This record gives sequence, C-alpha cells and structure tokens, in this order.
Amino acid sequence: GAPVLADISKIEPGQKVTFAWRGLPVFVVNRTKAQLDALPGVESHLRDPKSENTAQQPEYAKNEFRSIKPEWLVVTGLCTHLGCVPDFFPELKPEPFDPHWQGGFYCPCHKSRYDIAGRVYEGVPAPANLPVPPYHFVDDAHIMIG
Ligand code: FES
Repeated sequence: GAPVLADISKIEPGQKVTFAWRGLPVFVVNRTKAQLDALPGVESHLRDPKSENTAQQPEYAKNEFRSIKPEWLVVTGLCTHLGCVPDFFPELKPEPFDPHWQGGFYCPCHKSRYDIAGRVYEGVPAPANLPVPPYHFVDDAHIMIG
C-alpha cells in the first residue's frame, strides 16, 4: 500500500484523529503534557511497559513515549486481541472497572485497556501493545505514514 500523508496541523492538544492506511485505522494523538506526565505512573500495571516486544514498534518508537516526538502518538487503531477498534478516552481519570486506569484506549469488545501510549494493561485479553506503524515527520505539520 502507498504511504499516506497526514495533515496534523489542526489536531488540538488532547485530540485524536484517525487516518486510513492500507485499510487500517491509524490513530494520531496530540498528547498534552498532563497525559505525558501520567505515563510513568501506570507502568506497574502494564503487560509490556518498556515495549520490549520489538514486533510492536520500530526502533525509533521504542522509548518511554513510544513515539518520535513525545506529544505525537501514532498507533494502529486495532485491538491486539481480536481486532476491534478501541475507543479513545483522553480524560485522566480512573474508571470504576479499573482503579489504576488513567485514560487512553478502551476496547468495547472484551474490555481491553491501553494507556495513552497504546500500552496494554495487565489482566485484559489483549496480549500486546498497540502496534506503531512506520512513519516519519515531513515537517511540523505533516506525518508520512507507511
Ligand atoms: Fe479488543 Fe477483544 S478485540 S478486547
């Protein structure tokens, strides 16, 4: 499939926009400082907090933010359990079903939860973090996906 040029100039802080690449939804999130600051606090509740499963992201996304630029998250928006599209929960608040939850992505099919870096929580059906597709920045306003 051809690479897709994503215009990110209108994505507000805390907002997610979905782009189509090779028939897959790709989530691009402009993360706020508060969302980034919350990442270390949930690590002890994650299955693969350091993203050591190299198949889930390119080397340049193998860091605490799982991204090239900390604020910009780029992940494939398909649950790693059975492929449903997770919902986006940008609010930094626990949910009744998980007191450790600090927002991110929630799969409505079988309740898998991911943090705002697409890292999967323990105790849910999904086996792995949301994959990071190949991408690069063309300039400050554009990302090439693929
Ligand atoms: Fe997401 Fe099963 S497909 S939890």
